[in-house]
Amino acid sequence: MSNTMPHEDGIDHTLSLMREGYLYILNRRRSFNSDVFETRFLGRKTICMGGKEAAEIFYDPEKFKREGAAPNRLKETMFGKNGVQGLDGQKHRHRKEMFMSLMSPNNLKRLTDITNEEWQTAVNKWESLDQITLYEEVQEILCRVACRWAGVPVQEDGIKNLTNDLAAMIESPAAVGPSHWKGRNGRNRVEKWLGELITSVRDGQVEPPENTALDRIVWHRDLDKNLLDTEVVAVEVINILRSIVAIALFINFIALAVHHYPEEREKLKLGDEKYAQMFVQEVRRYYPFFPFITALVKKDFIWNNFRFEKDTLTFLDLYGTNHDPKIWENPDRFNPQRFAEWKKSPFSFIPQGGGDYLWGHRCAGEWATIEVMKVSLDFLVNRLEYDVPDQDLSYSMVNMPSIPHSKIIFKNIKQKR
Ligand code: HEM
Repeated sequence: MSNTMPHEDGIDHTLSLMREGYLYILNRRRSFNSDVFETRFLGRKTICMGGKEAAEIFYDPEKFKREGAAPNRLKETMFGKNGVQGLDGQKHRHRKEMFMSLMSPNNLKRLTDITNEEWQTAVNKWESLDQITLYEEVQEILCRVACRWAGVPVQEDGIKNLTNDLAAMIESPAAVGPSHWKGRNGRNRVEKWLGELITSVRDGQVEPPENTALDRIVWHRDLDKNLLDTEVVAVEVINILRSIVAIALFINFIALAVHHYPEEREKLKLGDEKYAQMFVQEVRRYYPFFPFITALVKKDFIWNNFRFEKDTLTFLDLYGTNHDPKIWENPDRFNPQRFAEWKKSPFSFIPQGGGDYLWGHRCAGEWATIEVMKVSLDFLVNRLEYDVPDQDLSYSMVNMPSIPHSKIIFKNIKQKR
């Protein structure tokens, strides 16, 4: 026996999702007073859910699968085809082990060092400029960081184009028209360029440093002991490069938070590493980034008296879970202090997905993201002085991904000596 799931009346609700953006699922969880409801997107029955318990079942590999779940427009831009995101079971676990092996303490330390160096080079340049747009500058810093860390050689005159192409993959999945095509074209260009590089590595003409992403992925063998196809290697290397460049979005929100909450800036200046970590966690919880993730019901099951039918498209609300009043006190208040007493749960704080890194699809780069954010925070608070002139610092709760409208302009930049 099962109950009927709360559902939205009407033929299709794609327009409501586009109108309400990050708040779409949360708004309905509130009005239905239910963490799960049924709706229709692009003519297809879809289950939406959010909250800790919902995340727990979403990450149960017996109940949900990823193969075939990602919409095409996401694959054509952000994900690419046949990457780790769409794998299940042992195949997924084996590929994911390769990704997680890149996140060793030594490799993360190398990432922090490179990030420091690239920030330093950039700020030396900023001092002589009238003004900078932080979002674009940080994307370029991170593109350089990503390529160095991943062992991908790039000519100096190729950095700007590569930054733009990787940024377009991040900004285009939900866009329409030319902005969407920018993402597709960007992906095609970078996949082609990487394809040639991968062939040169396999031919012995290029030797990436040991233990870098390029080295590991090019020589990774699947469960049948075969090397991955060149196209798949390119997709997985882009999973690293693009994702590191995407941290620019969080760094823009760090700058916004430091500007909006001057009392936080003062606390951060005391140099307490634990507080810096708490601040970064709160930025990841509070600001909008990934709205939700998708999976398909693997086989019929009943949860909380509701029936989930095989192959139903299902969304897990990341933003809404990070703002769920059942988990977070005053969820709409920016308060790093909440992380001082935070009882860790892999399902309640899920800006980069939840669950287990190896058995599930939780973001492989979560630790890397936190480290890069901490270095950037240190520059913004302790190592730089700058003015934030009048500009439109508001950000949309509808456009995905959300970016402060001005992309944050700094003037009169000086290094603290
Ligand atoms: C900019 C900050 C980042 C955000 C907001 C983010 C967010 C996410 C999310 C939401 C997922 C999907 C989780 C799921 O489907 O259950 C994911 C997966 C993934 N992320 Fe990240 N990510 C970020 C940075 C990174 C970085 C820096 C890397 C690598 C260096 C990375 C590599 C990956 C990979 C490989 C996956 C696929 C994991 C799998 O399917 O098993 N991400 N990320």
